[in-house]
This record gives sequence, C-alpha cells and structure tokens, in this order.
Amino acid sequence: MSARHLVLIGMPGTGKSTIGRLVARRLDRPFVDSDHEIEIRCGVRIPVIFELEGEAGFRDRESAVLADLAAMPEPLVLATGGGAVLREANRIALRSTGQLVYLHSTPLVLWQRTRGDKGRPLLQTADPRGRMEELYAARDAIYRSAAHHIVETGGLNATEVAALVIAL
Ligand code: S3P
Repeated sequence: MSARHLVLIGMPGTGKSTIGRLVARRLDRPFVDSDHEIEIRCGVRIPVIFELEGEAGFRDRESAVLADLAAMPEPLVLATGGGAVLREANRIALRSTGQLVYLHSTPLVLWQRTRGDKGRPLLQTADPRGRMEELYAARDAIYRSAAHHIVETGGLNATEVAALVIAL
C-alpha cells in the first residue's frame, strides 16, 4: 500500500512541525512528530539521548520509531527530524507508505530560525552558522532524491506553505 501518510522532511528549522500541525488540522488527520514520539518512548529529551548514547544511538531509536509510524494503518501527517532520511532503510520505510514532501529553505534562513535553540544538539558548536551550511551541503541532495515533492518555503509564512502542501 502506498501514499498513506503525508511525510514532511527537511533541515532543522524549515518548519516541519509547525506546517505539519497546520496541514493535519486542515486535512483532519492525526499529526505525529517523530522527534516527540522518540522523546515519549525514551522518557527524556533529545539532547539527553545524544549525551548518553551519541548520535548513533539516537539514529537507532529514530529508525525504530519511523518504521513503526510508517506501518501505522491510519493516514498521518508526519513531521520527521532533520536526519530521518539519512539512512536508506528509513527512506524505504517512509516511501513505502507515504508521500514525502521536502520543505526547502536556505541555510541562512535555517540558521536564523534555529539560532540559540538548545534543543538541537547537532547545532551546539562554536560556529552554528557554519555547521548549518555543512549539514545543508551534505543533505540537500538526499532530501531532493528522497522526496516526491519539493516545496520552496522562501518568503512564505507557515499558513502559505501549508496551503501549498495541501494543494499537492
Ligand atoms: C536532527 C534534527 C532534529 C532531531 C535531532 C537530529 C538532525 O530534528 O531529530 O536533533 O539530524 O538534523 P529537527 O529537524 O526537528 O530539528
């Protein structure tokens, strides 16, 4: 079975959770944020998982949650963490039951939106702007090839982006 879920992918700060919530409300579907689901299962916040188990431990937990969400029978609007489609197995699981939408923003906008946010462990460096540029350079092509659709968010507010996603 294909295209049950609507899955938002993309960089940290691109608005996956905000837009996912709006889209879910408009489509009258349940909204699930995979990062939130990981936190519920583990009973701790994401930075704590990174601290205790490193990025690899977090990715294993993320893969398990994504596989379970992909298999859910009810059509969801699913906001994923920025690294959700880095593993091929996750891409396959998500694409087998969902339409993947890449919400694209430029590194500058992403950095401005996430500046000072302590909840994003990968950006806790001396040069978060440079880090954002590196992550974007490493991932943009992966998001593009994983996605069924790409939505440019530049210059649009969340309501406008949600309307574009719904129109797909
Ligand atoms: C990550 C992004 C985060 C979270 C984790 C790892 C990433 O989610 O899953 O910190 O690898 O880009 P957001 O995209 O919601 O910030």
